[in-house]
Amino acid sequence: DASDIEKGTYAHYMLKEIEEQPFVIRKIIQQYQDEQGDLTIDSSIVNVLNQADRLYIVAAGTSYHAGLVGKQFLEKLANIPTEVHLASEFVYNMPLLSEKPLFIFISQSGETADSRAVLVEVKKLGHKALTITNVPGSTLSREADYTLLLHAGPEIAVASTKAYTAQIAVLAILADVLRKNKGIEKNIDLAHELAIAANAMEEICDTKDEFEVIASDYLSFVRNAFFIGRTLDYAVCLEGALKLKEISYIQAEGFAGGELKHGPIALIEDGTPVIALATQENVNLNIRGNVKEVVARGANPCIISMEGLEMNGDRFILPAVHELLTPLISVVPLQYISYYAALHRGCDVDKPRNLAKSVTVE
Ligand code: AGP
Repeated sequence: DASDIEKGTYAHYMLKEIEEQPFVIRKIIQQYQDEQGDLTIDSSIVNVLNQADRLYIVAAGTSYHAGLVGKQFLEKLANIPTEVHLASEFVYNMPLLSEKPLFIFISQSGETADSRAVLVEVKKLGHKALTITNVPGSTLSREADYTLLLHAGPEIAVASTKAYTAQIAVLAILADVLRKNKGIEKNIDLAHELAIAANAMEEICDTKDEFEVIASDYLSFVRNAFFIGRTLDYAVCLEGALKLKEISYIQAEGFAGGELKHGPIALIEDGTPVIALATQENVNLNIRGNVKEVVARGANPCIISMEGLEMNGDRFILPAVHELLTPLISVVPLQYISYYAALHRGCDVDKPRNLAKSVTVE
């Protein structure tokens, strides 16, 4: 209950929850380590996932965005085909399922009615389900066969922040444990890489003043704002846009860089803010080409890149982390920018209009 949790010296729960993220990642590493320090997941969960021929991630909102990142982990680390679905769509339009599907419900609250409706349906069909949630004993946890906890601590602000990064960390651990269990060799020490990401998050939090300046430079008098990225950066752009629209009411959209020319570039006018993420080496030149295209149409670009990939004119350079874990850190500036944009506009940061923390109606 919100009244039980102190904001302490923080002006808002959202700010507190953003800044808790490095600690949450460290807590997750600890919670999922065995006595030898190896990352581990309950063997019944590992076995049931390894028997599946395809994973179906089902979620809503921010949890869906974490699922888009998780798909990359499960496919790239553990070689398991993975689909990600919006619960509200899946329930009325079920895709053709594979022979041995396994369902993963991602939900901070564990109470989202759209997700529960899907769980009820797939249970009726006799399929097994794993819930990844922040709330032990929640409906989705009780009704699924297996649960993995986020250990993020209570999230009070309506705009989800630490639950998103916790979901990504737990999905990475799940994918890595499945990988090892299948004997797939990859040159990655995930616990170590997550610890590096936690430190990077902390460094980013230490420079939050910079994001307040970015928010006022780019978002003070605008009606809309766009986030562009490719591959993992695209998934984070969808989350960045959701954060901004939820709490600042600026119309914000995330686009895949390569899709701009297929339509969205028509929206660019003089001064339109375009926040671009550039953390992925294999598409670094491509996304920078996309930035040039929008700048040629008058956009006001804000490039957030990463050490090793930076170029002249980048507005913020993230500390380097493993290429799969960039969403953990690239989302942090976007959370802050949304926070400050909302604050500058006098919006109710923790309780945005028309929104509920957990959506318990379909
Ligand atoms: C996040 O900022 C949102 N308020 C919302 O999209 C949320 O992520 C969604 O309703 C899903 O909630 P859940 O994770 O509790 O299922």
